[in-house]
Amino acid sequence: MTSAGKAQRLRDSKGKHRISALTAYDYPTARLLDEAGIDVLLVGDSLGMVVLGFPDTTHVTLAHMLHHTAAVARAKPQALVLGDLPIHSYDTPAQAIESARQLIGAGADAVKLEGGSDMADTVRALCDAGIEVIGHIGMLPQHVIEEGGYRKKGKTPAAAQKLLDDARALELAGACALVLESIVPQVAAQVTSAIRIPTIGIGCGETTCDGEVAVITDLLGSYPWFVPPFAKPEADLATHIMNAARAYQQRVRGITTHQR
Ligand code: KIV
Repeated sequence: MTSAGKAQRLRDSKGKHRISALTAYDYPTARLLDEAGIDVLLVGDSLGMVVLGFPDTTHVTLAHMLHHTAAVARAKPQALVLGDLPIHSYDTPAQAIESARQLIGAGADAVKLEGGSDMADTVRALCDAGIEVIGHIGMLPQHVIEEGGYRKKGKTPAAAQKLLDDARALELAGACALVLESIVPQVAAQVTSAIRIPTIGIGCGETTCDGEVAVITDLLGSYPWFVPPFAKPEADLATHIMNAARAYQQRVRGITTHQR
């Protein structure tokens, strides 16, 4: 299926079936998640923390994103491959088009960028250039330094109205879906009802959006050093990995080397 076909499938899912999205940063994970039937594989800039060991997403470069997007795309997934535009790769509409073309060239079907009404012109320019775009509003991890931490959004009537305006502006600009991150559940539900494109939530409550996205390490329990409060692990890979490594270490130590 073409990228445009996958984006249309996402648009059409609103009101019919909920969207399941997970982050993927490498080939084997992408293959497994695709075979499990996940709808969207997000090559998120969260890779900065959970794969590359940076403190936040502000260290992620376009080169990092291209490397990991290409790995995911080699799995040739049925799912829509969504590449995150990293910080400072979309400071102007022209730069956004150039960066997005590189992500598409690496195998992404669509790109995601953070921001609301302020990003509407950029989203429009990308769509006019034939690039499928997913917006991201609410808590914006690329702004964590100036915001002084990860905070819930939409707590006041003015903040809620701003989120509604942002969502409508991005829909009008041509975005095919929106990620809503850490928004007060009632406001996330209002945004979902106010627009015709699907919303994909994280940290917004379970029933407020048209689908959900999770960071794969939160689902697998493979990054135990930081687990967001809304994470719902389905496995404890960290314990499995450590147990396997200890068993291996003991087996290797227990064998005598035959010297000649
Ligand atoms: O980078 C990422 O993983 C994301 C999700 C938190 C939505 O943008």
